[in-house]
Amino acid sequence: MRRLLVTSALPYANGQIHIGHLVEYIQTDIWARFQRMRGHELHYVGADDTHGTPIMLRAEQEGLSPKELIARVWKEHKRDFDDFLISFDHYYTTDSPENEQLARTIYLKLREAGLIEKRAIEQAFDPVKEMFLPDRFIKGECPKCGAKDQYGDSCEKCGATYSPTDLKNPYSVVSGATPIRKVSDHYFFKLSDPRCETFLRDWTQVKTPLQSEARNKMKEWVGTEGESKLGDWDISRDAPYFGFEIPDAPGKYFYVWLDAPIGYYASFLNYCQQQGLNFEEWVRPDSKTEQYHFIGKDILYFHTLFWPATLHFAGYRTPTNVFAHGFLTVDGEKMSKSRGTLISAHSVIESGLNPECLRYYFATKLNASMEDLDLNLHDFVARVNSDLIGKYINIASRSAGFLVKRFGGKVSDTAMHHPLLEKISHSNDAIAQFYETREYAKAIRLIMELADQVNAYVDENKPWDLAKDPARESDLQHVCSVILEAFRCLSLFLKPVIPSIASNVEQFLSITPMQWQDISKTLSSANTIQPYHHLMSRIEPSQIDQMLAANL
Ligand code: MSP
Ligand code: ZN
Repeated sequence: MRRLLVTSALPYANGQIHIGHLVEYIQTDIWARFQRMRGHELHYVGADDTHGTPIMLRAEQEGLSPKELIARVWKEHKRDFDDFLISFDHYYTTDSPENEQLARTIYLKLREAGLIEKRAIEQAFDPVKEMFLPDRFIKGECPKCGAKDQYGDSCEKCGATYSPTDLKNPYSVVSGATPIRKVSDHYFFKLSDPRCETFLRDWTQVKTPLQSEARNKMKEWVGTEGESKLGDWDISRDAPYFGFEIPDAPGKYFYVWLDAPIGYYASFLNYCQQQGLNFEEWVRPDSKTEQYHFIGKDILYFHTLFWPATLHFAGYRTPTNVFAHGFLTVDGEKMSKSRGTLISAHSVIESGLNPECLRYYFATKLNASMEDLDLNLHDFVARVNSDLIGKYINIASRSAGFLVKRFGGKVSDTAMHHPLLEKISHSNDAIAQFYETREYAKAIRLIMELADQVNAYVDENKPWDLAKDPARESDLQHVCSVILEAFRCLSLFLKPVIPSIASNVEQFLSITPMQWQDISKTLSSANTIQPYHHLMSRIEPSQIDQMLAANL
């Protein structure tokens, strides 16, 4: 039995969960549910990422304290995750006493190791609001084409890239004032220290089986022996800042990206305390447990450089691996507010769509790479209706009725050795391997090929014709039993993706919750099949229109 700690990235507490986020939570959840079905010990934890300037300013705009804002958003996020059947064992917040304690401890260990340095740096400062301004809070005119209201890194009009100090007539987005330059002390994590460089080269290039794209990116960043490529990491921010104050540094706060990944451990620690698990056993350097982080490709740097270095030099174990996925587009384009394609998780539910449709669709698209994936709305409707309803659910609806009405809900035990069933159950290793390696698209393809074969068997044996001929009573029971057992196997294979439908199937077949090893069992005349109730409805195109309208 394996022991696994699994996380998804912690969503910022200043906005709603949208379907782009859901790619990640659904990807992680499918993996977590699969591993649990395999009988492994798995703990899946998450939390809201609550600190930083944007959240502080957002709260102010809404007339709330940051703590009030993050409490409200936590509830919304939790609701959305529950709606989409994301099976977090614990969902916490980075604004917790455990996180503050861990962040301080880790920082002090890094300081003791000689890896923290204080340096004065000059930055943009809003003289009216009296705060330092992160780049995205400064706008001005493009130095190339003169377009107004451009951000400090690039121009949306002409595409020029430049640095914030190049902007003409810059202004603070917060107060409108012209930013001034101001010097203040910052704390740095000395990633350029030869110890860090050596560690990170080994961790990213040798020790960790990173995705090849990730490993290559890291190779550019960490350089090869003798090169010195890594810059030190600025981990402090000046007041006013919503976050944790740095020990022995009044008015200085941990930058949100220092305490956010520590939030994984803080969430797990709080959960361990509730569950009576031994936290130390999971996080110490010689731990025999596995630790996996699912993330988007945009935050790779934080998870494969800063986070392992932080852990290692503070005396903790490092991640077993980090799994990065690509970005979701909708109908081939970046999600956009004006087209209504920045689709909130909640709007999917409100338009009456079954959340398992989206889980299924993402599964048909997901693989182990960092490539982007597309939600094509037309294809979404067609695919779900033809696969889940047309190929999968119909198998049950075409066979169960006869067994219930004509045979008291009993399958024929002798039907359980049919070659079609052997073939299906023999596919279990291949399907398991696809789930294990996050090749969900391949798993689904194989499952649907099996479903095609079952449907071909139904069409050849025509239970509806057999039912008309009293002399063929036992053939009817035999055929329907084969079909329904095939349906059980397909449901088992699909359970990580569509857990709620699978659970209704378990009730309908009167079987205990399916574990992966149950593939070697079969239905038997000892269980009574319950009357078939519709397991799922088709998607109506009008639901898609309603969903898009709700996001405009
Ligand atoms: N708060 C940080 C993560 C801290 S982890 C210690 C953050 N939050 S986020 O809300 O912006 O994103 C959360 C996750 O959702 C990230 O892994 C991000 O890559 C992912 N996604 C956000 N938009 C996405 C798409 N359009 N498509 C796929 N994943 C997306 O980053
Ligand atoms: Zn321009």
